[in-house]
Amino acid sequence: MSTKSHLIAPSVLAADFAKLYDDIIMVNNSEADWFHIDIMDGVFVPNISFGFPVMQAIAKHATKPLDVHLMIVDPDRYLQVCKDSGAEIITVHYEACTHLHRTLAAIKELGCKAGVALNPHTPVALLKDVLADLDLVCLMSVNPGFGGQKFISNTYTKVQELRAMAAGINDGLLIEIDGGVTTANAAQLLKAGADVLVAGSFVFNASDPLETIKKLKDIDINIESI
Ligand code: DX5
Ligand code: ZN
Repeated sequence: MSTKSHLIAPSVLAADFAKLYDDIIMVNNSEADWFHIDIMDGVFVPNISFGFPVMQAIAKHATKPLDVHLMIVDPDRYLQVCKDSGAEIITVHYEACTHLHRTLAAIKELGCKAGVALNPHTPVALLKDVLADLDLVCLMSVNPGFGGQKFISNTYTKVQELRAMAAGINDGLLIEIDGGVTTANAAQLLKAGADVLVAGSFVFNASDPLETIKKLKDIDINIESI
């Protein structure tokens, strides 16, 4: 049974952009581990969030690593600026990369950790030949593009499959879950083998975001019943 503790990554997409500084300080002072930064281009996903200047402003005040989720086509064009804007982890979409192996190598050459995100319809089996090269796999538990959507429960099976696939090949692989994460599904996700929980609206729309982050962080799969 695993006793390692999981990571919480609040998604800044759900913050109040008119008081972003306050929300960054809140995350700094919380038990969260990373900032999750969603960059969208209006092409790969039907929405536009914010770009690198905003990310640079966040990086200036954030005291925790920036976990950057690029929901953009042809992400190779933006890896350098992403790194220069403060990214520690850069995650690209499987569905957006023609030469995924090359893209992952480029991310690592920049000195960043490399992640791949999978849309809900993309099987984890497609990662077999790059599994050893990955630091993180982000399993989308909603269709990317928007916060506040309903969690897709097929994700539990995908986490289990990926964890089994990675065993003996990449035991340090971090499995991240992104979309619709709440205290109602977090324990089951962790039991299935997830390591990192992204949470946007559940944290930032809560009456007490600090306490909500703490609740997600405090989940102990050894005592939690599902
Ligand atoms: C969706 C983004 C998510 C989003 C999650 O495309 O990748 O990171 O912010 O938001 P919630 O937690 O509200 O589903
Ligand atoms: Zn995301």
